[in-house]
Amino acid sequence: MAEHTQLIDAINIRTSVRAYDKEPIDDDTARQLSMTIDAVNMLADLNMQLVLNRPEVFAEANASGHLKNAANLIVIVGPKDDPQARERAGFYAERVALAATLRGLGTLWVGGSWDREEAAKHVRVTKNEEPYLGVVIGHPEHHLSYRAKSYDELVEFQRSHRPTKSFEQFTAGMSDAERTAAPDWFKAGVEAAMKAPSAMNRQPITFTYDASADTAAAHIDQSAGDGQALNDLGIAKLHFQIGAGSGEWAWGDGGLFIHK
Ligand SMILES: Cc1cc2nc3c(=O)[nH]c(=O)nc-3n(C[C@H](O)[C@H](O)[C@H](O)COP(=O)(O)O)c2cc1C
Repeated sequence: MAEHTQLIDAINIRTSVRAYDKEPIDDDTARQLSMTIDAVNMLADLNMQLVLNRPEVFAEANASGHLKNAANLIVIVGPKDDPQARERAGFYAERVALAATLRGLGTLWVGGSWDREEAAKHVRVTKNEEPYLGVVIGHPEHHLSYRAKSYDELVEFQRSHRPTKSFEQFTAGMSDAERTAAPDWFKAGVEAAMKAPSAMNRQPITFTYDASADTAAAHIDQSAGDGQALNDLGIAKLHFQIGAGSGEWAWGDGGLFIHK
């Protein structure tokens, strides 16, 4: 695993992992993850919490075979009735998921395949907050052979493991001429967003480039989105930002990205 160390590498190898080994997350790794979560919570103004060794949160999904040995997760807790916090949850929890990926761990966002009430028993939730979503974390099944795989093998698996909308669909608001003329950082940002997880793989986010202002914008395609579209918007923006190399987003549907 030593050859991939950058967040863009994590984007290039990450896939949802639904089958895990039983081996628990060791104390050192758990401490590192907690430190990352604490730091990211400060930036995100969220209350993400790591919950270890609680297979009861996934009792149904593990029993049905949809998941295997899922037992650890990050519970994303945030303020009630706050759409922007939903977007920040996507952006910042995906940042933690990518950090876990770089440590050789598997991750899976869960909106349906968990018992939210059971998860809520193991975290602190104030009366103005609620658990939004979870991110399962654990050693992928057969993790020793998984770790022996080369970066290129993992990249190839990620490239072919699921259908994706095309670059043209991801930039549906642009003409062919505009696409060709767009700068490399924009193209690299879109390519990274195409590799992002999204609820039901709906990939509801599109991007446009405005040559006159040299800015990008991210949009929710309402026909493709569902209840998790704001979360998907946050995830897609994080991937885009890492792919573009540097720069910053404004929050919101239609929010602008300024490349630096
Ligand atoms: C907000 C959100 C919720 C999700 N909920 C579930 C879920 O409940 N069960 C599941 O198996 N996958 C879930 N997924 C994973 C998606 O199905 C997966 O990201 C998508 O199919 C793309 O595949 P990839 O992550 O391997 O790139 C969720 C993803 C997101 C972003």
